[in-house]
Amino acid sequence: MTSTAQDHPGHAALVRLLGGRGLLTPEWRRAWEAVPREDFVPPTIWRQGPQTCTPVRYSSDRQALIYSDRPVVTQVDDGRDGGPGIATSSNSMPSMVAKMLGLLDVRDDNRVLEIGTATGYVSALLCERLSDEQVFTIEVDPTLATLARTALDAAGYAPTVICGDGEQGWPDAAPYDRLISTCALRHVPWPLVQQVKPGGVIVAPMVRDFWSGAVVQLIVQDDGTAAGFFRGGASYMPMRSHRLPPTADVDQDTARSSTSDLDPRQLLTLGFAMYGGARLPDVKVVHAQGENDDTVRVWLMDRDGSAAIADVGKPVTEFGSRDLWTEVEAAYAEYVDLGRPDADEFGLMVDPKGQAVWLHSPDAVITSVR
Ligand SMILES: C[S@@+](CC[C@H](N)C(=O)[O-])C[C@H]1O[C@@H](n2cnc3c(N)ncnc32)[C@H](O)[C@@H]1O
Repeated sequence: MTSTAQDHPGHAALVRLLGGRGLLTPEWRRAWEAVPREDFVPPTIWRQGPQTCTPVRYSSDRQALIYSDRPVVTQVDDGRDGGPGIATSSNSMPSMVAKMLGLLDVRDDNRVLEIGTATGYVSALLCERLSDEQVFTIEVDPTLATLARTALDAAGYAPTVICGDGEQGWPDAAPYDRLISTCALRHVPWPLVQQVKPGGVIVAPMVRDFWSGAVVQLIVQDDGTAAGFFRGGASYMPMRSHRLPPTADVDQDTARSSTSDLDPRQLLTLGFAMYGGARLPDVKVVHAQGENDDTVRVWLMDRDGSAAIADVGKPVTEFGSRDLWTEVEAAYAEYVDLGRPDADEFGLMVDPKGQAVWLHSPDAVITSVR
């Protein structure tokens, strides 16, 4: 390897932070120590803001960002100049990477497919933990795939890097024991499940209009379907073909006001997000918080121009043909009747016809997309 954590005190501190949070087994700790993050960060980087990204220009800011527990954005607007600065590739947030690799539960002889190579950092960690021959990784963007190959080669790793659409997986080297997606999925593509052996594990961040992300850990069953629980929040950029469609403009002339007993802050737990997202799959939720907890504002939107705005302690305003606030109130009442389950009490089942979200067990389906 060209450098180690000893040459990068910032990296050693980052690994200690991950270890201190209980995110590293001894095997993963050794792998992280051997692969400095800096070796997988290109010269041009951005800092993620709430919506868009800002360039990082000074080397001291660059060092601070690389050795913090934050994502380092490495491409905006799919690499096109003059765009709004939306992150389209990154070296992901280290604690999220460590958590997802932990959930992957790899064994020494496992063969692993990663979707979303980006900088190659996760592939390098997997090569360090396993071996080059056991790691396969797919990146849709040809420029990024080339940069990743170069960075991996310079660091002494040689996994199989494929430039292609990860939605199809990589059947040429299937079956795999483990599959990790490092781009968010709206649904788990069936070809990915088909390429993992029974008993194998799939770890993927999922995204819905309703919530910004939660990671799922699926086990492939003997009949080839996959099922498993959600394991907490995970905010990742979506797979290219899974990007959320834009919402339509709202017709302000349809505004109407009503009172509500539901405090909009209640909608913001990941537990309700899982339930509400399953019941109202096409409703997008966005929120903003001012100086304190009393200044939370929640927006609901669908793709056809219906919307609702709710501020703490104020009347609700709805727009368009749907009474979105009323629909969310009804879903919230159902959620309360279920005992306000936490996010990790929900799970996902994937079969050839689609996927279903369930509560506690695959028999208790809340909603399915077929
Ligand atoms: C958050 S980055 C992944 C971080 C990466 N694992 C690392 O170690 O740096 C997400 C990546 O997924 C890629 N991606 C998006 N859609 C894809 C697809 N359909 N197939 C493969 N890669 C895809 C993006 O181009 C982006 O580089």
